[in-house]
Formats: sequence, structure tokens, C-alpha cells
Amino acid sequence: MTLTTKFNETFAFTKKFISHYQQMGAVIPSSRHLAQAMVAALPSIPSGQYIVELGAGTGVFTRQLLVDRPSNPIIAIELDHDMAVRLRIAFPNATIVEGDAAKLSDILSSLNIRHDQVGGVLSAIPFISLPASIGDAIFAAMAEVLTTGKPYMQVTYFSPAWRGFSVWKNFSQRSIKRVWRNVPPAEVMEFYRK
Ligand SMILES: C[S@@+](CC[C@H](N)C(=O)[O-])C[C@H]1O[C@@H](n2cnc3c(N)ncnc32)[C@H](O)[C@@H]1O
Repeated sequence: MTLTTKFNETFAFTKKFISHYQQMGAVIPSSRHLAQAMVAALPSIPSGQYIVELGAGTGVFTRQLLVDRPSNPIIAIELDHDMAVRLRIAFPNATIVEGDAAKLSDILSSLNIRHDQVGGVLSAIPFISLPASIGDAIFAAMAEVLTTGKPYMQVTYFSPAWRGFSVWKNFSQRSIKRVWRNVPPAEVMEFYRK
């Protein structure tokens, strides 16, 4: 990635944060180090099974997924129209869906993808800044799609704040990795479908 691309991505992201701070949940995109940690935390997924990314933003994780998981097709879901348009141009090798992560099952149906073809989910949805009802709907959608044992990786800036979330009902949490080389420092939380 060139410096100009990085600057443009950061500028587009920060502009969105100013107008939609709850939905964006961060001032600048995640660092390359965080993207590497997120994708490395995702266990090996059988070739051909899909990896679904929720809240792709400027595509920092999408880019890493395409490099590190070439045998898994990538579906990146992004709510914001402008971001989705940019993602489609930047990542022609991923399937970019402009849509709501809470509608994950419908989105997969529209792509003719069965739930058992999804190997795992990677999410940067800013649950802490979103209303609880939206978070609950997204956790329920992931629980509907992922079968027992399948992974869901989540990035957060403060894992203790997750204690009250409904995600625990359907997912067990295995480990938390801290990534200091991110602004602000972040955590990768590993969940598995119970
Ligand atoms: C913190 S940003 C993360 C962007 C990027 N993955 C990164 O780490 O830099 C969160 C992204 O989630 C998107 N988002 C928020 N709610 C969403 C939803 N319900 N469905 C899909 N995307 C959503 C926002 O528009 C935003 O682009």
C-alpha cells in the first residue's frame, strides 16, 4: 500500500467518524499490526469455506485476509454506502456487500451461500459504541450462521466492557491478545460458537 493510499483511507475514515461516530467507533483505521494479529488469530479454515468480515471500513482486515487466506473466499460486509463503494474498487477479489451485519443470513442467501459453507467470522463492528439492541441482533445473526465450534474474532479497545453483552449466550471466549502497535492499543478476542 502506498503512502497516498494510506492517507486517503485515513482521511475517508476520519471524515465518516465525524458524521457517524457511533457507527464507526474509531477515529482512524486499524493498523497493519492489528490486521495481522486478527487474521493470525483466526484458526485455519478448510479451503473453499468462506470467511465473513463484518464492518470492513476502509479494508485494512480485508487486505490482510486476501493475502493470508488465499484459499478462502472473502465476503466483506459494510453498512456505509461510500465505504462499500471504495471497498469494491480497492478489492475486486473479495465479495463486497453493502448491508447490515444483523442481516447476515439474508445476505448469504442472496449470494446462494449455505450456512455450513461459512468457516468463520472476523468483526470490527464497534459494539461498545452501538445501542445494545443492534449488538444483540448482530450476535444473534452470527449465532444463526455459525455452526458449533466455528470461530468469530472480534477487535475491541476494552474487553472488560464486553461482560454485559448477550454474545456469551451462544459463544465461548478462548483468549485475548493485546496489540500495542495500534492507535489506540487494541485487543483481539477469540470466540467460538457453543
Ligand atoms: C471501527 S470501524 C472498523 C473498520 C476497519 N475494519 C478497521 O478495523 O479499520 C467499524 C466499521 O463497521 C461498520 N459498521 C457499523 N455497524 C455496522 C453494521 N451493522 N453492519 C455492517 N457494518 C457496520 C462501520 O460503518 C465501520 O466502517
